[in-house]
Amino acid sequence: MATVSIFEDTESLAEGAARLIAGTIQEAIHERGLAMVALAGGSTPALAYRWLTHATIDWGRTYLFFGDERFVDKNDPRSNYAMVRANLLSRLSVPPANVFPVPTDVDSAWAAAIAYQKLLASVFEVAPDSGPPIFDLILLGLGEDGHTASLFPGSDGLSESERWVVASEWTGPQKAQQGSTLVVERVTMTFPVLNAARAVAFLVSGPSKAQALKAVIEDRPSVNVVPAAGVLPAHGTVEWLVDAQAASLL
Ligand code: 6PG
Repeated sequence: MATVSIFEDTESLAEGAARLIAGTIQEAIHERGLAMVALAGGSTPALAYRWLTHATIDWGRTYLFFGDERFVDKNDPRSNYAMVRANLLSRLSVPPANVFPVPTDVDSAWAAAIAYQKLLASVFEVAPDSGPPIFDLILLGLGEDGHTASLFPGSDGLSESERWVVASEWTGPQKAQQGSTLVVERVTMTFPVLNAARAVAFLVSGPSKAQALKAVIEDRPSVNVVPAAGVLPAHGTVEWLVDAQAASLL
């Protein structure tokens, strides 16, 4: 069951998202003693992570993971870990042992995906050949093309039904050289993990996302065309936290 909450602007969206994240973490700790959270990358969540630093959270019982990562150095400005470190981790005393970045200091994006899956199996104490790890909360964004995490339209990862983490790649215009394309290798959680979550929250902001948001919420598109439409947790909730500009076509 999906709910949509529309916020007036990016600031109130970020504050509302921080409130939801904090509440979900507190509930998970109360019920199970730990909160297992997968953070979203990109730029939208940055302000929400800064708001989250003001929340009352037992970071000693909160484990932070990454729904996806760019296969770049942790100090690369494109790194999702770098964005979370700048907006959350560097502002709080989160125990480093409770933060699980995707290892990008390995030979390939596939090696990183395999290593991250092993790490998930170990931390969640779930055998690799059994069901996926169950997160209390997975935060996701929405791309203008309808992607989420690093599950892009037409990509192989969309049909992955076994592995919890796969390599993918983002292809886009090379800003520096007109006309050429840039490929950035990615590592991403797959639908088996996303759809095993107790709760998923999408954070969507800005007019550029209005078309994709309408497609996901109202048009019931094919997952191959709008990957975010594939996020349908079997036993979990989906909340869309969006600002008015992103919601302008709803
Ligand atoms: C990433 C994210 C990606 C992001 C969307 C929206 O690594 O970039 O996982 O799915 O959430 O592309 O990005 P913005 O928040 O920057 O618009």
